[in-house]
Amino acid sequence: MDVRRRSVLAAGAAGAAVAIGGAGTASAAALGAQHDHRDPDSLRELAGKTGLRIGTATSPQALTIPARAAIVAGQFSLVTPGNEMKWQVVEPTQGVFDWSGADQLVAFAKANDQLIRGHTLVWHNQLPTWLTTGVGDGTISDSQLRDLLHQHITTEVSRFRGKIWHWDVCNEFLTDSNPSMIDPNRFWAAHLGEGVIADAFRWAHEADPGALLFYNDYNIGGEDGSNAKADAAFTLVRGLLDQGAPVHGVGIQGHLDTQFGWSPQRLQQDIERYASLGLKVAITEADVRTFVNNATDQVPTSSLELFAQPYEFSEMLKAALAVPECVSFTVWGFTDADSWVPGVFTGEGYATPYDVNLNPKPAYFAMQSDLRLAAFGAPKRAHTRTPHP
Ligand code: G3I
Repeated sequence: MDVRRRSVLAAGAAGAAVAIGGAGTASAAALGAQHDHRDPDSLRELAGKTGLRIGTATSPQALTIPARAAIVAGQFSLVTPGNEMKWQVVEPTQGVFDWSGADQLVAFAKANDQLIRGHTLVWHNQLPTWLTTGVGDGTISDSQLRDLLHQHITTEVSRFRGKIWHWDVCNEFLTDSNPSMIDPNRFWAAHLGEGVIADAFRWAHEADPGALLFYNDYNIGGEDGSNAKADAAFTLVRGLLDQGAPVHGVGIQGHLDTQFGWSPQRLQQDIERYASLGLKVAITEADVRTFVNNATDQVPTSSLELFAQPYEFSEMLKAALAVPECVSFTVWGFTDADSWVPGVFTGEGYATPYDVNLNPKPAYFAMQSDLRLAAFGAPKRAHTRTPHP
C-alpha cells in the first residue's frame, strides 16, 4: 500500500468514527494518523465479508469537505459519480470535453481501493444543450444524432477503459404505465428507435470489453404493485440477450417513498428473476424519502415515518444480500445534506443514511446490523470481473 492511500484510508476510518460518535465535523487531528486500519464495523468492511460492494453516489464538491470525504472513504467500497459522467457535464460544448470532475472521482476511488459505477451513457436527461438544441432546430439530423451518440459512448468509455466496474449504459427507457413499454416519446427512442438500446450496449462493449454493462431504471424492484415495469425490464433485457447484445446486468435504482406501498419480497423475486437470465444485479440509487419539517433540517414529521425509513432501507439491503447475483448496493448520496430529494419532492427529505449534520441515522445502524449478521450466513457474492488496479 502506498503512503498516499494509507493516509486517505486512515482519514476515512477516523472520520467515520467521529461521525458515528455524533461529534459532528471531524477535526484535522481526528483525520490524522491514529487509525491506520479500516474500521471493522464500517459498512464496507462488513459488506466485504459476503463480497457485496457497498457504494454511494458522490461529487467532487462533497469530497472537498474532509468530514464527507472521510465517510465516503471509510464506509464505502464503491463510488458512483452522481453527475460527473453525464454527457451534459463531460461535453458542455460540442468537441470540448471536461473530464475534471470524473477524473477527480476516479482518482479518489483508486486511492481508497474502491470500484466505480459509471453513470450514465444514454439518458434523456442532462444532455448537452448544443445537442438538444441542434436536434430541436433540425441542424442535427437523426442520422447525425446516431453518429454523435456512437462517438460519445466510444469517447467516454474508452477514456475510462479498465477503470470502470459497471457502466449504466441505458437509463430509464421504460414507461410507468401498465403495461409498461419502451417509451416511444422519450428522446432516444423517439429519434433513433428502440434499436438504439442494443447498439449502445455494443458500442460500449467495443470500447471497454472488460466493463460490465447495465440497464438501469426505477420502479423495477417491488415498488409498483402490478410489477408491470419490472416485467417490462425483464422482457427488455431478455430480448437484448436474445439478440446477442452484451448486457451483463440490471440496475434497480431503489428510490423509495414511505408514503407508497413497497414489497421487499417482490424486490427479492425481481432480483432473482433478472439473475435467472444469467445477469448480475445492482441496487444502484437506494434512498427512502419521507415527509419532513423543512428542506434544511429534514426532520421527519411523524414517528411512523421515523420507523418506516430505516425499515425500508434494511429490507432493501436484506433482499440484495439474499441473492448472490446481486453484487452491489449503492445509496444515492449518503447524507441528507447532499440528497436530490428536497429539491425535487416538495416537503420530503430524510432520504439517506446520514442526517444533514453527518450523523448516522437509524437507517445506517440498521444496514450495519444487517451486514454484520449477513457475514454469518448470507451467500457469498457471485464472481464478477473487476477492473485492473
Ligand atoms: O451544476 C449546476 C450549478 O452550477 C447550478 O448553480 C445549479 C442551479 O440549479 O444547478 C447545478 O446543476 C444541478 C446538478 O444536479 C448538479 O447539482 C442541476 O440543476 C440538477 O438538475 C441536477 O440534478 C441531478 C438529477 O439527476 C438530474 O436529473 C441530481 O444531482 C442527480 O442526483 C440526479 O440523479 C438521477 C440519476 O442520474 C438517475 N436516476 C434518478 C436520479 C435522481 O433524479
